[in-house]
Amino acid sequence: MKEILTEDQMRRSDQRMIQKMQVPSLVLMERAALQCVAAMKAEDIDLSKALVVCGSGNNGGDGFAIARMLVEEGNHPDVVLVGNYDHRSEETKIQMKILENLGISVGNSLPQKEYSVIIDAVFGIGLSREIKGRYAEVIDQMNRMTACKVAVDTPSGIRSDDGKVLGTAFKADLTVTFAFQKMGQILYPGCEYTGKLVTTPIGITRPEFFAEEEICMALEKSDVPAMLPQRKPDSNKGTYGKVLMITGSKGMSGAAYLSARAAYLSGAGLVRIYTEESNRAILQELLPEAVMTTYSLDETESFEELPDLLEWADVLCIGCGLGMGPHSEELLKKVLENNKTPAVIDADGLNLLAKTGEWGIEQIRMNPSGYVLTPHMKEMSRLTGYSVQELKDNRRELLRKYTEKVHAVCVLKDSRTLVKAPEGRLIINTTGNAAMAKAGSGDVLAGMITGLMAQHMRPDDAAVLGVYLHGLCGDHARKELGSYSVLAGDLLKMLGRTLKELED
Ligand code: ACO
Repeated sequence: MKEILTEDQMRRSDQRMIQKMQVPSLVLMERAALQCVAAMKAEDIDLSKALVVCGSGNNGGDGFAIARMLVEEGNHPDVVLVGNYDHRSEETKIQMKILENLGISVGNSLPQKEYSVIIDAVFGIGLSREIKGRYAEVIDQMNRMTACKVAVDTPSGIRSDDGKVLGTAFKADLTVTFAFQKMGQILYPGCEYTGKLVTTPIGITRPEFFAEEEICMALEKSDVPAMLPQRKPDSNKGTYGKVLMITGSKGMSGAAYLSARAAYLSGAGLVRIYTEESNRAILQELLPEAVMTTYSLDETESFEELPDLLEWADVLCIGCGLGMGPHSEELLKKVLENNKTPAVIDADGLNLLAKTGEWGIEQIRMNPSGYVLTPHMKEMSRLTGYSVQELKDNRRELLRKYTEKVHAVCVLKDSRTLVKAPEGRLIINTTGNAAMAKAGSGDVLAGMITGLMAQHMRPDDAAVLGVYLHGLCGDHARKELGSYSVLAGDLLKMLGRTLKELED
């Protein structure tokens, strides 16, 4: 797992090293510059014709130190200060002076020349407002130039906290960041400006005063094998859980199929689909491995078999393609009232849950086994009453508040999905891509999380792992099929291969 810091957390880590540990800031700067040069070399970047553009803050200081190191190695970089000369930080003044002592002059406008690499050291984590005027002109000019583009710590113009572009931003091919990755490099649109992200140590360690749950984490591929549920030689289908999928309304058999198949392919032992009668034939044909129980849509339907089904199941999933009709609403309410097993609520299940208000939340809170809710932004908006924009702008805080309120694991689906358990850490997912933005993708994810929970994974772990694997299947599918033609069914096709690759 790697830690992803906010701007404030990074600043506090930096200040602790300097003030409490007494590491001089110039030492950190020196290490940052050395690491940046080493990272560029490791990427085989041609450093012979470099342009280094520096701001007046400490990010600019890093830039001047980088320029000096390029000179030491026999290169002839052009160096420009775009920041305010009179507002240079103390460290930046020193770095600039050393460079000038070595006979390197620092210009104040971009030369119109060809460069092999452009190094952006205008703003780092200190960016605090919209970029305007001369700064904006220079950054836009740098973007228009043809050369390899490298950002020092973070691309200028990207807010380190949330990846927002403040006015304009440097579009890097490579960002060399220091000590920890920052939220703004992972979230969109910041990650598109970051390019390849290389994290380098410069002697800043994690402060002891950060509470565990304060830090956002991201799963790494190397974490996954140890998380996968074990298959024991001496086992049977009962060992891997009985899953009840309450999915698919009239004409929505596809969602029931995709989610049930995903649960099976994730390793669940036995999957039963409880769906509307007209779906029986097609689902039996598509997925003969699933057991079927059906209900009718007539007025006398009372879901008589539901209590026994809930008793039977080790884990359940409700909502994929369930529809919003009165029968679906009644079904969800009955499940909420009677269910004691771990459960996933997805799609229409969430839209119906939003309609039940405080009563629904109370039922969720009362299930001792725990729920996983998997809303996308629009569904989250219905659940919380916040607009999609408000959610996007304050996603971490609003997600934290909501999970505490409902006492459930929440998977907030977006280009970078967040997972939060009430008392757990915030996890940001880094797998997946735009090819997955297709109908049915969410059904596959809900089924995968359910399938993992069936194998006795804790709901929060199953949610984190499920989201990661789902994205990885998407990455594999895009590699094979390109960005346009990946269907939800292709994610299923990749699932076995993806799990095998991690298992081997
Ligand atoms: N337009 C114009 N100016 C702006 C804008 C904007 N949109 N946004 C911010 N600024 C100004 C700020 O007001 C500030 O100037 P001021 O100090 O005169 O008020 C300046 O830009 C800050 O810019 P940064 O260089 O991004 O911020 P900072 O000086 O805090 O440095 C840092 C960032 C620490 C270098 C970070 O990117 C990093 O971690 N680098 C690697 C580690 C390192 O070198 N650490 C030691 C540095 S020394 C130290 O921290 C004291």
